[in-house]
Amino acid sequence: MAGRGNFSSKIGFIAAAAGSAVGLGNIWKFPFEVGQGGGAAFVLVYLAFAFILCFPVMVTEIAIGRRTQKNPVGAFSDLGFRNWRWLGIMGVLAGFLILSFYNVVAGWAFGYFIEMVTGHFEIGQHFGEFTKNFVKVGGYGLIFMAATAFIVSRGISAGIEKASKILMPSLVIMMLGLVIYSFTLPNAGKGIEFYLLPDFSKITLPVVYRALGQAFFSLSLGMGALITYGSYVGKNDNIVSSAAIITLADVGIAFLAGLMMFPFVFSQNLPPTGGPGLIFVTLPGIFQSLGPVLGIVIGSVFFLLLSFAALTSTVSLLEVPVAYVVDEHKIPRKISVWVIAALIFIIGIPSLLSNGASDLFSSFITYPGAESATDFMTFIGHVANDTFLPLGGALIVIFAAYVWKKHNLNNELEQGFAGFKGSFVEKFIDLSISYIAPVVLLSIFILNVLDRFFGVQVF
Ligand code: PHE
Repeated sequence: MAGRGNFSSKIGFIAAAAGSAVGLGNIWKFPFEVGQGGGAAFVLVYLAFAFILCFPVMVTEIAIGRRTQKNPVGAFSDLGFRNWRWLGIMGVLAGFLILSFYNVVAGWAFGYFIEMVTGHFEIGQHFGEFTKNFVKVGGYGLIFMAATAFIVSRGISAGIEKASKILMPSLVIMMLGLVIYSFTLPNAGKGIEFYLLPDFSKITLPVVYRALGQAFFSLSLGMGALITYGSYVGKNDNIVSSAAIITLADVGIAFLAGLMMFPFVFSQNLPPTGGPGLIFVTLPGIFQSLGPVLGIVIGSVFFLLLSFAALTSTVSLLEVPVAYVVDEHKIPRKISVWVIAALIFIIGIPSLLSNGASDLFSSFITYPGAESATDFMTFIGHVANDTFLPLGGALIVIFAAYVWKKHNLNNELEQGFAGFKGSFVEKFIDLSISYIAPVVLLSIFILNVLDRFFGVQVF
């Protein structure tokens, strides 16, 4: 379709999609989920989900996007019936919700960076003092949203692709450096043990849902981000191999983040269950141990690169609703971008207030059977990441296998991958999207909703 824009090459697409996948989900969320989910057991469940369920869902999303060259709402109604539009709409809404809180955390990372380089960061400072300061976190959040909007407004190849190609490799180099450093710390071995030696008794049902929610979130699945990116992919590109590279890159970076984090945490004798503060409290403490100058240098590099990782993800989150209004309502890209970014920023204000700035939002809801209240931002995360994404993923594969139909999916995948049909990969993807993924995703979705929001434990 003329005028919609395209990625200029396969590598450009991979950089952008891996940029979407690799973000706060890998570096901020993954280590603390592992910490709270009991360590290596969580990692194992997460890896199994990533390869058996998520990779096939990713292939399916990209294929739907490339086939229709449309945003999720247009794509489902093109291939199925108009009624399937709501699946796309659910994706657009999930994107709105996720970006509204994701941007807040991205703003924290960016704020840490700015305060470190301008010499305003007292390394030992309390994280709570920072997040409580509405003017500060609101200001950093606003700058972050504006940077996201700027990139998205420049379009696919000049904006999203170009930024990702620079930001992603720098991130990897820095991560490797920090991993190596963390291995040299005292007690590093204990951290590695916690991370890599599974204690199977820790695999409980909540661990399973969280691992699934984490895998979906981390791979940007279940809400149409990859349908949207897929809509800009060239017809000669191999979707299956691209998806495999994106999955490996994402899982690989999450794995590295854990490998860096747990030696750090154990070297300071801190509990790995630190939650969302792990990266914002524990890490700065470690940087401090490097001495005032080196600590600030390494710390600012780290938080700059964390901001970069987040930026290529916020860009993909914003692109979903933007592609929707550009395609379906014919509103020019620039106007769509700025209006939608402003709206999402506003929707994110309660999340900005959720970490100490307002009591109402900081203790927003107490789930049945829970001991303490959950803040608004975490609550939105539970609704969007752990609930909407697995549900969206289940419906996407059901749609592809039974409504659009597998032979159509396979025809799309054969383009750019001669020999796909009849191959082992085809059989694997088929088995996963026709049977395994729908059953597992729907059951986990239902059990999770009953357990978390209604306090009902079936098992
Ligand atoms: N995958 C991103 C991360 O891990 C978050 C994301 C979710 C981006 C859904 C796009 C869509 O940080």
